[in-house]
Amino acid sequence: MIEIQNLTKRFGPITAVDDLSFRVQSGEVLGFLGPNGAGKSTTMKMVTGFLSPTSGAIQVCGHDVLKDAAAAQARIGYLPEGAPLYPDMNPRSMMRFVGRARDMDVARLDARIDEVCRLVHLEAVMDQRIETLSKGFKRRVGLALAILHDPEVLVLDEPTDGLDPNQKHEVRELIRTMSAGKVIVLSTHILEEVEAVCTRAMIVAQGRIKFDGTPAELRARSRFAGAIEVAVHTSHAEDAQRDLGDLACVSHVGEVSEVESETRFVLFPAAEAALLEDVQRVAAGAEWDLLSLAVDRGHMDDVFRTVTTGETAEGA
Ligand SMILES: Nc1ncnc2c1ncn2[C@@H]1O[C@H](COP(=O)(O)OP(=O)(O)OP(=O)(O)O)[C@@H](O)[C@H]1O
Ligand SMILES: [Mg+2]
Repeated sequence: MIEIQNLTKRFGPITAVDDLSFRVQSGEVLGFLGPNGAGKSTTMKMVTGFLSPTSGAIQVCGHDVLKDAAAAQARIGYLPEGAPLYPDMNPRSMMRFVGRARDMDVARLDARIDEVCRLVHLEAVMDQRIETLSKGFKRRVGLALAILHDPEVLVLDEPTDGLDPNQKHEVRELIRTMSAGKVIVLSTHILEEVEAVCTRAMIVAQGRIKFDGTPAELRARSRFAGAIEVAVHTSHAEDAQRDLGDLACVSHVGEVSEVESETRFVLFPAAEAALLEDVQRVAAGAEWDLLSLAVDRGHMDDVFRTVTTGETAEGA
C-alpha cells in the first residue's frame, strides 16, 4: 500500500533522505527508529505529500503522491511532529472542521467524533479550548484528527511523545487494534515501543536504511542475545567466574559489577551455543551458590548504538 522508490531529499548541502526504497503492506506496523536528524520526519512528510522530494517516487494505495496528492491524502491519516491545532477551537469543533474539510458524511460525523473521542480518551476535554489543554491532551487531539476518517494508511510521527505512561499504553493498544487491514508507519525514540506495537522495525541514520527486519531480529543482533547474567556472593565471585568461564559453550565473561556483597557478571555464548543447561549443571555441583540467573534476550539500545554509530560496545 506504500511503495517508495529511490526517495531523496536535499536541503541545500544537507541530504536528509538518501535514496530510500521500501514497501509497506497492509497489516504491517512499521516502526521508524533512528537518531535525531536521521530523516524520519522528512520521509513521513514526503509520504504524506507535505514536502516534495528532490527525486524518487512514492505510491500510496496505488496513487502517485507527486502527481495526485489529493487522492493519496484522502487515504492517509497523518499525525505530524508538533501537530498544528487551532488554539481557539475546542477538540469537538476542530474535529468537525477537519471532518468537513475531509468531505466526511455530515450526518454521520458527530457519531464518528464521539467514537474517536472515546478511543483516544478525550471525553473530559471535548468542549475546552485547545490552547488551555496540557501537552498530552493536545497530542491526543492530533491523533484523533489523524484517525477521524478511518484512513487505510496512518503515518504517525512520534505518536506517544509527551503522553503519560497510561496513555502511552492506551495509544499502543489503539494502534495494535487498528492495524488489521491498514498500513501504519510510526516513528519513535522508545525502542520498547517498537517491540510492543510494530511488526517491522526500520533503523534509519543519515537518511539511509541501516536495518530492516522484525523487532525480534533486531534484538537478536545484540551481543547480549542468549547471554546469561549470573549473580553470586562476592566472596565466591572468582571461583564462579572461573568454573563457568571454563565451559566450552562460554566464549567469555564480561560486564562484571559489584553491588554490596553481590557480584554480577555476564556469560557470553560461543557461536550458536545454548548456555542454560550447562550453567545450571556446573552451578548445582559447585561450592558456591547462585543468587540469580537470567537469560538475556538482547538489548535493543545496544543494537541501536551499533547500527547507527558503527561503534561496537566495549567488551564485544
Ligand atoms: N526545512 C528544512 N530545511 C533545512 N533542513 C531541514 C529541513 N527539514 C529538515 N531538515 C534537516 O534534515 C535532516 C533530517 O531531519 P528530520 O526532521 O527528518 O529528522 P528526524 O529523523 O525526524 O529527527 P528527530 O528524531 O529529531 O525528529 C536534519 O538534518 C534536519 O536539520
Ligand atoms: Mg522527527
